[in-house]
Amino acid sequence: MNQTVTVPLRERSYPIHIGQQLFHLVPEALQQASIRGTIGVITDTNVAELYLPRLLTSLEGAGFTCVSHILPAGEESKRLARIEEICGCFLEGRLDRASAIVALGGGVVGDIAGFAAACFMRGIPFIQVPTTIVAQVDSSVGGKTAVNHPAGKNTIGCFHQPRSVIIDMTVLNTLPPRELRAGCAEIIKHGVILDADLFAYMEREAEKILACDLKALEYPVARSCEIKSAIVAEDEQEHGIRALLNFGHTFGHAIETVSRYALFLHGEAVALGMCAAAELGYLLGISDEAFARRLRNCCTAYGLPVVWPDLPVAEALQAMKKDKKARAGTLKFIVPRDFGQVDQRTDITEDMAGRALEALLRPNK
Ligand code: NAD
Ligand code: GLY
Repeated sequence: MNQTVTVPLRERSYPIHIGQQLFHLVPEALQQASIRGTIGVITDTNVAELYLPRLLTSLEGAGFTCVSHILPAGEESKRLARIEEICGCFLEGRLDRASAIVALGGGVVGDIAGFAAACFMRGIPFIQVPTTIVAQVDSSVGGKTAVNHPAGKNTIGCFHQPRSVIIDMTVLNTLPPRELRAGCAEIIKHGVILDADLFAYMEREAEKILACDLKALEYPVARSCEIKSAIVAEDEQEHGIRALLNFGHTFGHAIETVSRYALFLHGEAVALGMCAAAELGYLLGISDEAFARRLRNCCTAYGLPVVWPDLPVAEALQAMKKDKKARAGTLKFIVPRDFGQVDQRTDITEDMAGRALEALLRPNK
């Protein structure tokens, strides 16, 4: 069944449509936004092969002229040089201020397309058509756009909200299983921070979700969009509550840094980071062992890592220290109390963070 979640941002409010076979909504959304110009479609090599012809048929059938730019698949594409290439392609294709951009792909495409839309001709509208779970439940909603700099991930970017998000669940049928599992980590994250029922659903329906049963996936995708919309509506530019969405990320980023981004997908590092945060909650005495065990078991059910790999804990702590320096001396940890209840803490010492990571060396207590 199709459903719509609204991101309520006054005059910049927008719908998230969730359902099956929804590509026809892309030209409709452009028409509703009174877009008359040429459409720039950004996608990547994998997604282009699978879904670009279908999207172009839908757009051209509705009378739109399109110019496509296909990025090499992968995080490597999220760099500033690609923005210049995209703008060059779109200038050559005669896009102008009456144009819009459509992002067809995962978080990499969405982040770079959103940034390109924010910069091209000083900003044009864009629509997100997310094709991974990570993009459907997280990156396509909320307007964070960015590219990476060699000195740090997502360090060049801005907030630019899309006009619509169109989630066609059927595209998940071709998603590699590892990407599906990594996306589930972000849904589990939403359950832990704000919705114990969503967490329980993920525990209960793991088998169906791992088999990519679209009916079973629709509720957690839609519920995640509702949770993210509510948070973004309250704190669009992350001055407060939006930081809760970074649960598992302080540890997760350190894990990605020490493993040189080679060992884990982002969602996998977040899963390990969430388990470390649960250990921290236990060390602080605000959550119990049963909480940490239940979270770990759920991550394990989704094939996500819960045990510290063969990497130096000390290096992870160094990475956190560097992060702390980059963030004006404060590192925020989102520490769980229970399912649906987390605290933001800025008082965690290096020793405490190290002990939480070390606890992941022997998680079967
Ligand atoms: P991704 O975009 O690299 O996609 C993962 C892989 O799946 C790629 O190889 C892609 O080509 C392929 N793929 C995508 N859709 C497919 C489909 N339907 N069928 C088959 N293959 C498909 O990675 P991701 O996990 O979607 O996103 C990660 C990125 O998102 C990171 O750069 C991260 O920083 C960013 N992100 C941003 C936000 C935000 O708020 N803006 C939030 C979370 C993550
Ligand atoms: N992915 C975290 C956020 O959008 O704030």
